[in-house]
Amino acid sequence: MMKKLIIEGQHKLSGTIKIGGAKNSVVALLPAAMLTDGKCIIYNVPDISDVHLLIEMMQLLGSKVTYENEIITIDNSQSRNALIPTEYTTKLRASYYFMGVLLSKYRHSEISYPGGCSIGSRPIDLHIAGFEKLGAKVKIDDNHYTIKAKELVGTDIFLDFSSVGATLNLMFAAVKSKGTTHIYNAAKEPEIVNVASFLNSMGAKIYGAGTSEITIEGTETLGDGVVEVIPDRIEAGTYIIIGALLGKNLIIEGVIKEHLGSVLTKLKEIGCDIKIEGNTVIVNKVKKLKPVNIKTLVYPGFPTDLGQPISTLLTQCDGESLFEETIYENRMRHIKHLNAMGSDIKLFDRSAIIKGPTPLKGRNVIATDLRAGAAMLVAGMIAEGTTVISNIEHILRGYEKIVEKLSTVGGKIKLVDE
Ligand code: UD1
Repeated sequence: MMKKLIIEGQHKLSGTIKIGGAKNSVVALLPAAMLTDGKCIIYNVPDISDVHLLIEMMQLLGSKVTYENEIITIDNSQSRNALIPTEYTTKLRASYYFMGVLLSKYRHSEISYPGGCSIGSRPIDLHIAGFEKLGAKVKIDDNHYTIKAKELVGTDIFLDFSSVGATLNLMFAAVKSKGTTHIYNAAKEPEIVNVASFLNSMGAKIYGAGTSEITIEGTETLGDGVVEVIPDRIEAGTYIIIGALLGKNLIIEGVIKEHLGSVLTKLKEIGCDIKIEGNTVIVNKVKKLKPVNIKTLVYPGFPTDLGQPISTLLTQCDGESLFEETIYENRMRHIKHLNAMGSDIKLFDRSAIIKGPTPLKGRNVIATDLRAGAAMLVAGMIAEGTTVISNIEHILRGYEKIVEKLSTVGGKIKLVDE
């Protein structure tokens, strides 16, 4: 059944929102847990649909998985290699991590092309080239990937682009290989550090995660693992943006401010009233917001996953802002819907000129992808009247308990089945 979000806009938000574990970390940590034959514990797991799908995939591969009170336990003693059916792999992008994991563990992985948000062509050529460099043979047949290796041997890999997915997948493939692998121009996102420390807790030897050069000394066996998922910096950023527009002492709890450096800097440049106390952010709406230029970049630059949500904030700034997306080709599909609600945005391929402030009016809109959905959510929260967002399955993939979290602080939002 299709679900919709119905939002009555313009309600002030006060109280506390607690940030959950990072989606982009946990979707890699779960497949990574299968690298060992032992047991793993993962703390602070967010309750999002991607997590439930990944658990089902792991169970298909024979792992015993329990999920209670934000804690996942995994027992791999009965796990085995198998083909993961297409109906799973097309639903989420992160299913591609099983490529590296199964290749590493069984020297053989078979999987269909991963799905996820259609925000651009999203090739996985860098993953494949890296697997080949480590000694694997890759056969691609009608979107079906067969990746096999007699042995995997450590090597030097230079990534053309600092891809998050490729960095992690190659880390997985290299972790049990012979010898040492260097990944140059590696992605530096905090999620990479989180995954590397999980693997190191199992006995892996990964150095330099969080920098652009990662060294992996292969180890034959891995033991039990434990990790706590880092707070979701994108979820935190989204609620801080909402707070900048509607907050009356809105408290966002569980934020690692260093992970949001570029975002907090931009919000301050806009003139938002943001106070940081330890891992808590307190945000208040101010009368006038200044326009800015924002360009999405790899970490520590402005995250592409917050580009769409912040574009809604830019519609409320007094003057002309420039918003430029540099990572994906297709991350502007929400603009049409924002303009339908009353914004004044001119789109030029991957750039947009946003003139504000423009009052927004509630409309029926579509969440064309996960973060576009977040942009519409922000719009619905500040719009006059009622906004109905359909296709919200996208939003539920990445934002845990969104209705509950916003309702507790005074938002008028509900989830209905169509
Ligand atoms: C991950 C995140 C996503 C985030 C993105 C960038 C997950 C599950 N998703 O996506 O939320 O928006 O990082 O922060 O963690 N590219 C290639 N060839 C490749 C791999 C990537 O050309 O083999 C290109 C992509 O098309 C894209 C760019 O590199 O233009 C970024 O991709 P990447 O960092 O790999 O992002 P994802 O892992 O897809």
